[in-house]
Amino acid sequence: MKIVTQEAELHSLLSRFQRSGLSCGFVPTMGNLHAGHLALVDAAARQCDRVIVSIFVNPMQFGQDEDLEDYPDTPEEDERALLEHGVALLYRPRVDDIYPTGIKLQTRVVVPELSEILCGLSRPGHFTGVATVVNRLFNQVQPDMAFFGKKDYQQYLIIKKMVIDLAMNLKVIGVETVRLDSGLAISSRNNYLTDSELIQAAELNRLLLKVAERYRENNESNTGNNEKIIEQGIDQLKAGGFLPDYLSIRRQSDLREPIAGDVNLIVLVAAWLGKTRLIDNLEFSIKV
Ligand code: PAF
Repeated sequence: MKIVTQEAELHSLLSRFQRSGLSCGFVPTMGNLHAGHLALVDAAARQCDRVIVSIFVNPMQFGQDEDLEDYPDTPEEDERALLEHGVALLYRPRVDDIYPTGIKLQTRVVVPELSEILCGLSRPGHFTGVATVVNRLFNQVQPDMAFFGKKDYQQYLIIKKMVIDLAMNLKVIGVETVRLDSGLAISSRNNYLTDSELIQAAELNRLLLKVAERYRENNESNTGNNEKIIEQGIDQLKAGGFLPDYLSIRRQSDLREPIAGDVNLIVLVAAWLGKTRLIDNLEFSIKV
């Protein structure tokens, strides 16, 4: 595995792949890699000849009170895991390589509406930071495909929309969430949880399953009281020791509120457990 920090070095290796006609799958990350990231790498390896991973903790996507300073940095463990998973190239740019004129002066990519709802409401500017850095990384790496975890479903849709709107020539692939046996979605933020919070956190997935089931039953038997289902869910979150941010049922395609006839839905949740903000979601379908 080649490890590069400079854009020029990156380009010379990438042009070698291109000259040999090899397809490239790209997995952008912020490091501190876990099984969720490695599932993205494995999906890329199944679909592309070469896998390229970036590790860059993007300051633009962190709010003032967020955990940028404490963001875990585990370079040796990350490199070892990527090597074991057959990654060809690891790109580790510095902040100056990504934002050469500084963050303030950087041209931004704004994906309207999708960036402003759900997590965008409590994390203003976050998704603009994500879209901006991913756009720059896509332009540097020029991959054929890029892989994103569906745990961050809103982020995944935002990147897909950006790629369509900016006529970028690559495919964005969503990869299923990796879960612990308890159902808890694997996330770097799980590291912040205490042992008892780790047990409590598994309630999130159980809640999503229940909410989807209740919604399906209500709508298939036309007894629809969807607001009530959300209220019950919020109460259940509170009873489980969470401070809910949102619990919402949306359309899978654009995260808008469902309308009559929509069948492919997703229930999304964000909630604080102690000092940690957790998110999760579950895609489901209903019969109409
Ligand atoms: O999901 C992440 O780790 C980050 O948001 C990403 C896509 C690497 C952009 O910094």
